[in-house]
Amino acid sequence: MDEKKLIKEKLPKHIAIIMDGNGRWAKKRSLARIMGHRKGMEVVREVVRTCHELDLEVLSLYAFSSENWQRPRSEVKALMTLLKRYLRSEIAELHKNNIKMNAIGDLKRLPEDVVSLVHEAIEKTKDNKGMVLNVALSYSGRGEIIRAVTEIGQKILTHQVQPSAIDETMLSQYLDTAGLPDPDLLIRTSGELRVSNFLLWQIAYTEMYVTDVLWPDFKKEDLYNALDDYQKRKRRFGLTDEQIRSN
Ligand code: FPP
Repeated sequence: MDEKKLIKEKLPKHIAIIMDGNGRWAKKRSLARIMGHRKGMEVVREVVRTCHELDLEVLSLYAFSSENWQRPRSEVKALMTLLKRYLRSEIAELHKNNIKMNAIGDLKRLPEDVVSLVHEAIEKTKDNKGMVLNVALSYSGRGEIIRAVTEIGQKILTHQVQPSAIDETMLSQYLDTAGLPDPDLLIRTSGELRVSNFLLWQIAYTEMYVTDVLWPDFKKEDLYNALDDYQKRKRRFGLTDEQIRSN
């Protein structure tokens, strides 16, 4: 698929990616799992650059799930080191490209040095008006919804919120993604057909695209293929074809 064949007006505003398959990529080469994550990080660099060039509004990356804390300590440690390395080496380029960094998830569970680098990146890029790079760290969709509901519950107790005022718009404002549009396209690499607790609320009407390509092998071309496939979809949001045509 050639980039030039994509229709600019029909590009998604928000792409979310479940970057899966690092471990399998390493195993196929008899390498340690962390080598897969390392190659995965290089792919992150490339994909961020491409999405910035495509003028995307938001790119959400599932970098570390709440469940990932249960992985072997050595792998968790190595992933945290990679994250720090990514932030240290990319922050200047992100800023230069007018990219605004955002992080979602239960950040307080992360090691202090990681949190402080994440906050530094957010602070440095907070006034940027280009693409939002939204990184999910220590994130689970259910956990995010529970945190939102707890906050609303507390406001009900102090009479700042009326239960009858709760609607989809209000709940969305209490999620970590408040202010961001819902993803139009969710890409998952490495062939698994599941959403793995990623952006559960936000993907209600998101188009899904699954490729067998393992994340460390994911190239520009694979992203263009996903976009080409997306552009051929008819998004109906629960309406009929006729209703969509008359809108
Ligand atoms: C899933 O592959 C991938 C992860 C749990 C980590 C993703 C991290 C990166 C791509 C690198 C760092 C990210 C940033 C944003 C700098 P897996 O290990 O579950 O693969 P498997 O299913 O083949 O075992």
